[in-house]
Amino acid sequence: MTMGKALRLISSLAMVALADQAAAAGTGDPANGQRLFSRCSACHSIQGDNKSGPALNGVIDRKAAGVEGYDYSSALANSGITWTEDTLDKYLAGPTRLVRGTRMTISVSREQERADIIAYLKSLGRP
Ligand code: HEC
Repeated sequence: MTMGKALRLISSLAMVALADQAAAAGTGDPANGQRLFSRCSACHSIQGDNKSGPALNGVIDRKAAGVEGYDYSSALANSGITWTEDTLDKYLAGPTRLVRGTRMTISVSREQERADIIAYLKSLGRP
């Protein structure tokens, strides 16, 4: 087995372990969140680069509009929000409801899906 394959295997095993823990705690499932993130990846990278939306790795505990070099709406820039599980949940449920004038318009209506996506974002490293 190559090193790359071994690392992928280890990280997928870690994902499974995380998912089991999440299920036990009754919170989000990061492995499912990773699948659901396909709805986000057209606009958001998790590798620190900005697309039409800002990079989302390290978003947990970061101030809203905190990615350097990304041209945010003034609505989000002035929102005073810090991204916690709670504020992310509200933003994903209805971005323009939480931040009037934000340019993100995609929402995730199912609570469990939001929890899964947030668990996935939590599992990512910082840029
Ligand atoms: C069609 C493009 C698009 C899609 C799809 C999209 N977003 Fe966004 N998102 C944006 C844009 C544009 C912004 C910046 C909003 C602003 O400046 O007001 C943003 C901002 C955000 C922010 C705030 C980031 C920060 O640095 O403050 C989060 C969190 C976020 N999006 C999460 C998601 C998630 C999770 C998904 C998938 C469920 C998603 N987005 C899907 C375009 C998108």
